Amino acid sequence: MARKKIALIGGGQIGGTLAHLAGLKELGDVVIFDIAEGLPQGKALDLAQSSTVEGYDAAMTGANDYADIKDADVVIVTAGVPRKPGMSRDDLLGINLKVMKSVGEGIRDNAPNAFVICITNPLDVMVWALQQFSGLPANKVVGMAGVLDSARFKLFLAEEMNVSVEDVNAFVLGGHGDTMVPLPRYSTVAGIPVPDLVKMGWIEQDKLDQIIQRTRDGGAEIVGLLKTGSAYYAPATAAIAMAESYLKDKRRLMPCAVELNGEYGVSGMYVGVPVLIGENGVEKIVEIELNDDEKAGFDHSVAAVQGLVDAVKAIDPSLA
Ligand code: LMR
Repeated sequence: MARKKIALIGGGQIGGTLAHLAGLKELGDVVIFDIAEGLPQGKALDLAQSSTVEGYDAAMTGANDYADIKDADVVIVTAGVPRKPGMSRDDLLGINLKVMKSVGEGIRDNAPNAFVICITNPLDVMVWALQQFSGLPANKVVGMAGVLDSARFKLFLAEEMNVSVEDVNAFVLGGHGDTMVPLPRYSTVAGIPVPDLVKMGWIEQDKLDQIIQRTRDGGAEIVGLLKTGSAYYAPATAAIAMAESYLKDKRRLMPCAVELNGEYGVSGMYVGVPVLIGENGVEKIVEIELNDDEKAGFDHSVAAVQGLVDAVKAIDPSLA
């Protein structure tokens, strides 16, 4: 069986980590694309040399030409600029929108059948623009955010309760911004919902509230520590989990930014909700029941994403 082809658009820290993880998991041959000459080639050669120690078979190639991503099965987009301390993700809107235009056209012309995962910020509106610029079907263009945000929520819960991360499940919905909506009611330890764990005294309500806020600030916390860029290990791991679910038809149910068309009362925009990812891309959007507070939080988050979509439409009227 021919190996799958995974194209990584952007050869920075996330791109390199994605390539390494894709190799270690033997998901397929990897092409790292970047406009900087030498950078993707250098990373690809370094990674190829590491493969002989670890013993994985995956060709690693660096590219400066979109023609080299031809017929990729999966494309993961990290191209663009990360934020610096003091900036919000939304401050990247104008600069990264231009990048999404050239990336979208490169994908449209060379890998129109790919499953595309976008990581570039501000995520929900960038993935929306990427889908428009590429013209690929919306069920094949998704944003990585909920998996990352849920991973952070999960870690903080596990640490607070002193339990294995293996037994914790956590869900975060909404946009990948300050208004994201961590959902304790849908988060569990070994199947026990977090609100019950509060009643049982495993975690105090004020600690839970702090963890919810820390999850919302999760990206900024790392930006503040790194000072020169943003997180890369966890975002890359999250995107690879999504790519793997597609490539292996694992049919995982995970929170991702997808285009909603009536679900959750939202239309024509991307927001994070639980979706099933299988060999056809997004195969199902799952509508969970939200109580009044959760719904208000979700609507607030949707309104924030809508504001960014409107801003993008004003910058580039070609976006419908
Ligand atoms: C993250 O959540 O780590 C990313 O969105 C990067 C950022 O700027 O926070």
